[in-house]
Amino acid sequence: MTRVMASDYMAFAKLESGARFSLATSGVANAEFADLGPLPELTLHGDNIYGWPPLLEAIADRFGIGANNVVTATGTAFANHLAFAAMVQPGDEVLIETPAYELLVSALKYLGASLSIFARRADQAWRLDPSVVIAAITPRTRLVVLTNLHNPSSHLAPLAEIALIAQAAARVGAHVVVDEVYLELMAGPHGAIPTSFTPGGNIVVTSSLTKAYGLTGLRCGWILAPAELAHRMWRLNDLFGSTANHPGEQLSLWAFGRLAGLRARATAILEENRAAYRAILGGHPALEQTTFEHGTTVFPRLTHEGGDHFFRRLKADFETSVVPGRFFGEPNHIRIGLGADPAMTRTGLERLAKALG
Ligand SMILES: Cc1ncc(COP(=O)(O)O)c(C=O)c1O
Repeated sequence: MTRVMASDYMAFAKLESGARFSLATSGVANAEFADLGPLPELTLHGDNIYGWPPLLEAIADRFGIGANNVVTATGTAFANHLAFAAMVQPGDEVLIETPAYELLVSALKYLGASLSIFARRADQAWRLDPSVVIAAITPRTRLVVLTNLHNPSSHLAPLAEIALIAQAAARVGAHVVVDEVYLELMAGPHGAIPTSFTPGGNIVVTSSLTKAYGLTGLRCGWILAPAELAHRMWRLNDLFGSTANHPGEQLSLWAFGRLAGLRARATAILEENRAAYRAILGGHPALEQTTFEHGTTVFPRLTHEGGDHFFRRLKADFETSVVPGRFFGEPNHIRIGLGADPAMTRTGLERLAKALG
């Protein structure tokens, strides 16, 4: 079998998804340095051979775990790749959700995993049904992969349901990777995240500050893993980038101290955009809405047109973009992002409504 050597979705996202009114992104609008307050003095180098201890400790403290459970990485994208690479051998059976974030699928295929899928269903608002996942686990399953919040639908899975899946995976000696990059949006009043990670279990969590706080450029990502597995990931990382960009680590630590302000900014943007979505597209006859309460993205079905055709028309005639559902394995759907600048988002949604007719 030829190994996958590229991500079609990432090429689309980088080269084709841009538009004057882009609803194709899943993150909160980019913050500026000014949103981080007066910056600290940076040093060019630091003691960061297997992570920079102050940053490891800041991440560990946030989740009430040990620094030996934390591996830092360049964004959730590389956190996923490193976590998979440390756990998956060519030919290993990996069970992954569908619809799925394409980069998870491509990275696993690149590593030579043998993929099987379990479905989340549109008519159940894409909920994670533990009984469906558990029925798909076999004695050969090495890893189960899911996102929480779900990309593309933003569905939130209860922790108890992820725990049931993890228990079933443990019975066949498998791990569960939960990509929690959008769970950062669900922080409680004191910033606590309802993570599914527990140090003694078989769940590995990946996440970053990129999506929920508008800090894409910082690339501050991490893996939470049982200590022995985290150690294995650090050693494997020596084959990839070896050590991290130290000024970036210092800025990431600085950002951890300022998440409350960034979260307030994100909440204001999202509330305005969700209200605009409901006002402009709620109940539109050309869209089967999926309900959404959380997150930055909505994943409705087009009733009259395929997602690719609609995307081309929307971009050419209305200077507006979304993500065609094909990239998530659902060609009649589109993913609409609600994290961008509110004025641009409102106009994009109005143009989208016009394109729907
Ligand atoms: C589910 C999921 N994981 C990971 C990523 C990549 O995140 P990062 O920018 O932190 O690398 C994305 C980006 O869209 C995503 O949707």
